[in-house]
Amino acid sequence: MTQAAGRFITFEGVEGAGKSSNLGWAAELLRAEGIEVTITREPGGTPLAEALRDLLLAPHEEPVAPDTELLLIFAARAQHLQQVIRPALAAGKWVLCDRFTDATYAYQGGGRGLPVDHIAALETLVQGDLRPDATFLFDIDVLTGLSRAGKRGKLDRFEQEERAFFERIRESYMRRAADDPTRFRLIDAGAPLDEVRMQVQALIAEQVSARG
Ligand code: TMP
Repeated sequence: MTQAAGRFITFEGVEGAGKSSNLGWAAELLRAEGIEVTITREPGGTPLAEALRDLLLAPHEEPVAPDTELLLIFAARAQHLQQVIRPALAAGKWVLCDRFTDATYAYQGGGRGLPVDHIAALETLVQGDLRPDATFLFDIDVLTGLSRAGKRGKLDRFEQEERAFFERIRESYMRRAADDPTRFRLIDAGAPLDEVRMQVQALIAEQVSARG
């Protein structure tokens, strides 16, 4: 639940699930309804947070400690919340964010095996009680997603992980969605693009009618 006037919708899924292009499509649909939309992403969304993103995604000679990764992600999130997300929501805008804290539970919790209570503690520290109003989870078979992501060019530090890492992430996302069916909406991202768009369109219509 947000404390603000706008609406906060996050887009989640494993690599290659198509969440980013569908986020652009969802924004178009909302703007056609006369709704002011801010599009952003994590890690990133401000110059400083984008610099932290570059550090997180670049392959390094030195192994990155999982806690370092976790703290950099929440550092970027704190900056993004202060500079972009909270002001936009307070101004009554809808914020569509490409990944948010569910990705941390899935990647750093499920993928890296970090304790969930450490993530939850940082979530409370950085976000207070701010949570997404709705989360669209784009679910796709891991191999299909990875092969789509692989066609985009050079693999980043996460994309270089083995398949089992992404299987744990997918399971972790699905578990979170099952635990919070009010917030999560599941999208079959393996379907043809026009069907995926129809699913997104229906979910956006649901959000528009829920705004009251
Ligand atoms: P992408 O969203 O452009 O796919 O890239 C962001 C990468 O960062 C992706 O591999 C997932 C990863 N990530 C985390 O590991 N934890 C997080 O909390 C977030 C937001 C992203």
